[in-house]
Amino acid sequence: MQLIDGKKTAATIREQIAVDVKELLNKGGKAPHLVAVIVGNDGASHTYVNGKIKACELAGFKSGLVQFDADVTEEKLLQTVKELNEDDEVDGFIVQLPLPDHIDEKKVTEAINPDKDVDGFHPTNIGRMVLGLPTFLPATPFGILQLLEHYNIETSGKHCVVVGRSHIVGTPMTLLMSRKGNPGNCTVTMAHSRTKDLKEETLRADILIAALGKPGFITKDMVKEGAVVIDVGTTRVADATKKRGYAVKGDVLFDEVAEKCSFITPVPGGVGPMTIVSLLKNTLISAQRRQGLES
Ligand code: GUN
Repeated sequence: MQLIDGKKTAATIREQIAVDVKELLNKGGKAPHLVAVIVGNDGASHTYVNGKIKACELAGFKSGLVQFDADVTEEKLLQTVKELNEDDEVDGFIVQLPLPDHIDEKKVTEAINPDKDVDGFHPTNIGRMVLGLPTFLPATPFGILQLLEHYNIETSGKHCVVVGRSHIVGTPMTLLMSRKGNPGNCTVTMAHSRTKDLKEETLRADILIAALGKPGFITKDMVKEGAVVIDVGTTRVADATKKRGYAVKGDVLFDEVAEKCSFITPVPGGVGPMTIVSLLKNTLISAQRRQGLES
């Protein structure tokens, strides 16, 4: 079994991004500028956003954070999106999800200028991804593709099973693994909460991508010998032995599943760091495009 080290891979990619930023500056350009918008006090969302801002600093980006209380109106949030769309200094921005129930997430996503939608969630960018046109790929699936590539994991002709159908991970992942290219060319099954015999499906997976948000859900008996297992789960579970009072758990019961795998991602330190670095990559691309200084 080989452990897929997302932290190390992300650090390598981030170093390359930092080199690209220097090159952009040497050509007379400006550092990429990413802004994150966050609503409310959800601890996990704040952790993710802080990680994104910190990564910006490490890569030489300019970053900004817009914070609202949970009771901010949809109108106010849409106004902020409009201002960020129009702010020439901003290359890309994200609105951290989930949003409180009184705000229509779809409406907010659709209000973002697709050219600054470095999350790749706008319908235009999803459509471009489906058609294989240049676009911003959603950060988590993009990060997983880069991990597969970095570890030279063969995907062509393999059976990939994606568990979960979220717009952020499961749906784009399914599409990207099936499309022509490397990584890609898989036969893909998308499984979800209504799948009849999930174990029957997961046991067919050469590559199993778990993105359902249920800690420890994927057990040894659900995994084929020699499978590649990618764990997207990051659920906070109460743990009194930890300083913070919780541990972050993946969707895969790592200790028992790892022994059956050819490759496996840990949680934390697997997919998470790659998500952040992919967001930086998208923002760099946006900055290069906007300044007409593509490398
Ligand atoms: N919430 C969970 N993952 C993401 C992400 O990649 N982008 C945003 N905006 N919100 C998220």
